[in-house]
Order: sequence, then C-alpha cells, then structure tokens
Amino acid sequence: MRPCVIAVDGTAASGKGTLARRLAAHFGFAHLDSGVLYRLTALGVLEAGGDPGSEADALAAARAIDHARAGDPRLRSDRVGAAASRLAAIAAVRAALLRYQRDFIAHPPGAAPGSVVDGRDIGTVICPDADAKLFVDATPEVRAHRRWQELAGLGIARTEQQVLDELVNRDAADRARTVAPLRQAPDAALLDTTNLGIDAAFAAALALVKPRLAAKLEAKPRG
Ligand code: DC
Repeated sequence: MRPCVIAVDGTAASGKGTLARRLAAHFGFAHLDSGVLYRLTALGVLEAGGDPGSEADALAAARAIDHARAGDPRLRSDRVGAAASRLAAIAAVRAALLRYQRDFIAHPPGAAPGSVVDGRDIGTVICPDADAKLFVDATPEVRAHRRWQELAGLGIARTEQQVLDELVNRDAADRARTVAPLRQAPDAALLDTTNLGIDAAFAAALALVKPRLAAKLEAKPRG
C-alpha cells in the first residue's frame, strides 16, 4: 500500500505552505513544498544568465537542481517567483520535476508513514489518488498583504500594490497555462483563509482532512 498523501494546492500566498507544514508535523508525515523545485530551477536559470522561457535553459536547470539550496532566501524573491511561473508552463520542465515528487510520495524521507505535498497540481496531476486534497485560497488583497509582510521580514522592500500586481499576474499565468494549470480538483475541499488566522486555518484544514484519512489512520494507528 502506498504511504498516505495529503495534497495541498492553492493560489500564491494563500497559506498553503504553512498549512502543509503544520499538517505534516501533526501527522508525523514528511513535507514537500513543490514550489521550491520550480523556484530552484528558476534560480539556476537566472544565475546562469539564461531565459526562463527557454525550454533548453529551463530543462538544463531542472536537471541540475541543488536541493541543498532549498532554504536560500533568494528563492522567495518576486523575480525568482515570476521566473518559476514562466518555466512552470513548459511541459518538459514539469516532466523533469515529476519523478522527484512521485519518488518523495512513494518513499517519504525518514521512513515517515506519509507525506504532505503542496503546490498547484498535486491533487490533479502528481497524485490524483491522494488520500485527502485541499484547495487553499483567499482574496488577492489578503494574500498580497501576507506576502508583503513575508518579504519585509526577509528585508525585501516592495509596496503592497507591487506585490498585489505580481500575485494577480502570476495566478492568471498559472491558471491559463495548458500543462497542469492551477485548478481545484473536483474532489478537493476548498479552504478559504481570507478571514482566518493561521491557527483557525489549521483547525479548519485538520477538520477537512481527518475524515478523509480516517480509514488509513485506523489501519495504522500512530499512538
Ligand atoms: O508556490 P510557489 O509560489 O513557491 O510557486 C512558484 C511557482 O512555481 C508558481 O507560480 C507556479 C509554479 N508551481 C507549479 O507550477 N506547480 C507546482 N506544483 C508548484 C509551483
């Protein structure tokens, strides 16, 4: 039996990453932020002076990802985010990153009994048979405010309007692309975090996910 998987998809800065991390900690699962794979690829392209819209440049970077750089603060910049969104529309790049995600799900690191994977296409393409699926969203203004605060914390000075424009553009591009576009899987539960603080959002996520995992968790109780 494949390990448990919780798929957490959603829009940029919706809170999906924080929720995924907390769900993973709660269940003792491994966590994969799939956006980091696209951001690492983008960073590689930009550092090599390449073009994120070029299949050859992006594919070379996707094949040479350095996972040790997953915590690099430069990954969070708008420039890298926008480049990630561009190369994420290239089918060959998505195919190159697919194996890593499927391997992670099949063999969660640390022999964890399951994984929580967040991104844009986890419940639709990477793991359509995930045990539980969430689609996390919030109004663009609320998401922009959160992202602006996060960037300020990293010392990246932007106006809230700049962040909002960038977010709206990126979501539009992620939804419009033909390969694995951002969309809610039919069997995903929608979680709108517009009016929820992180603790309330986590409680809501847990309430949505727990019943869906119940059968598997009963088969493999975790203390
Ligand atoms: O979640 P994020 O902001 O770190 O993602 C950066 C970009 O990567 C996002 O604009 C689209 C792309 N992405 C994707 O296409 N599929 C994923 N599963 C995760 C991210």
